[in-house]
Amino acid sequence: MSDLATHPARGSRALLAREARHGPGLWAPTLAFVQGRGARLWDADGKEYLDCMAGIAVASLGHAHPRLVAAIAEQAQRLIVCPQNLGNDVRGAFLEALVARLPAGLERVFLANSGAEVNEAALKWARVATGRSRLVAAQRGFAGRTLGALSLTWEPGYRRPFEPLPYQVDFVPYNDIAALEAAVGDDTAVVWLEPIQGEGGVHVADPAYLRRAREVTSELGALLVIDEIQTGVGRTGRFLALEHAGVVPDMVTLAKGLAGGVPIGALAMTQAVAAAMPKGGHGTTFGGNPLAAAAALAVLQEIEAADLLTHVERVGGRLRSGLEALGGPLVRGVRGLGLMLGLELTQEVAPVIDALCAEGVLVINAGATVIRFVPPLVISEAEVDEVLARLGRVLAARG
Ligand SMILES: Cc1ncc(COP(=O)(O)O)c(C=O)c1O
Repeated sequence: MSDLATHPARGSRALLAREARHGPGLWAPTLAFVQGRGARLWDADGKEYLDCMAGIAVASLGHAHPRLVAAIAEQAQRLIVCPQNLGNDVRGAFLEALVARLPAGLERVFLANSGAEVNEAALKWARVATGRSRLVAAQRGFAGRTLGALSLTWEPGYRRPFEPLPYQVDFVPYNDIAALEAAVGDDTAVVWLEPIQGEGGVHVADPAYLRRAREVTSELGALLVIDEIQTGVGRTGRFLALEHAGVVPDMVTLAKGLAGGVPIGALAMTQAVAAAMPKGGHGTTFGGNPLAAAAALAVLQEIEAADLLTHVERVGGRLRSGLEALGGPLVRGVRGLGLMLGLELTQEVAPVIDALCAEGVLVINAGATVIRFVPPLVISEAEVDEVLARLGRVLAARG
């Protein structure tokens, strides 16, 4: 990168030390990034990486995408602040474009700033729409770390320090129809599911499971909430992953890739659910700000213009076949859809992820034994081949 040479903040070690002094102490990063383009990142020492993490499924258009950059810059020069109690042109255009992309019936959208925040909103809407409070969610599920969302997050390590949590949740085994049927009753407010469990290890829902969840909830007056925060916005080769199963839930939550990296969250819901909230019953200062709306509109436009869903199917298929072909004693199997893939190993993945990083490939784990690949949707076939070649070398050296 020609302009990286002139970047003022060079030297990973100094950057990391500065953050470590003043950050909250929750992480201990060993890499510091200062620039990106497409599916490539550069650290503060000038080393180049292929990014198969995308900020955990966030940089949907990759880094520094010209359409996204232009939309943000243009909107920043025009208007950044316009809360939702006032009207705005770009927010309206974004809402229209988003609803056109959603299954018919999901026509009302509450905008916020993150995944956990829209999941919290979904819990409030569910409470007022059903008058019930019992929740059913899946084992291994992840819904965020604020207290309500944490109630729906299964992993004991995330929950235990904060118990008692505000919601009582019955956790059922994922993809087990009988267990789901047994858990849902006429006092259930919500069945809450991810179409692919991301944090939980890249486990894909059987279409029949999601369809049965829809039937059971409808029969008993409960709501079906599908958390598409990680799976949505084209990641699986459909705009929403639930399209693979053809179900229409009562609520869908989106965040991560929706605005290509600008903070955003969206709760889409039916008219019936939306109408249950009293006027002023929920709100947020920054939600729906024109800057995020402009970024999200640019993402939706680029998904169309570049036919990214077809691209995701093609490159995702290539990555999947390459992962399946790896073989060797370390590989247990491959799971996922589109560009949300998990490679399960027969051992802990942390040292393999470190070795990949040394080879210039960034990935993230999904639990102890799964390497998760969630690259920018724009990653090219040649870049996928390069990732596979480097991964092959790393595994061969260890197996
Ligand atoms: C399925 C799912 N739901 C909710 C969240 C929480 O989103 P956020 O980190 O934006 O609060 C995440 C984040 O990883 C997620 O993967």
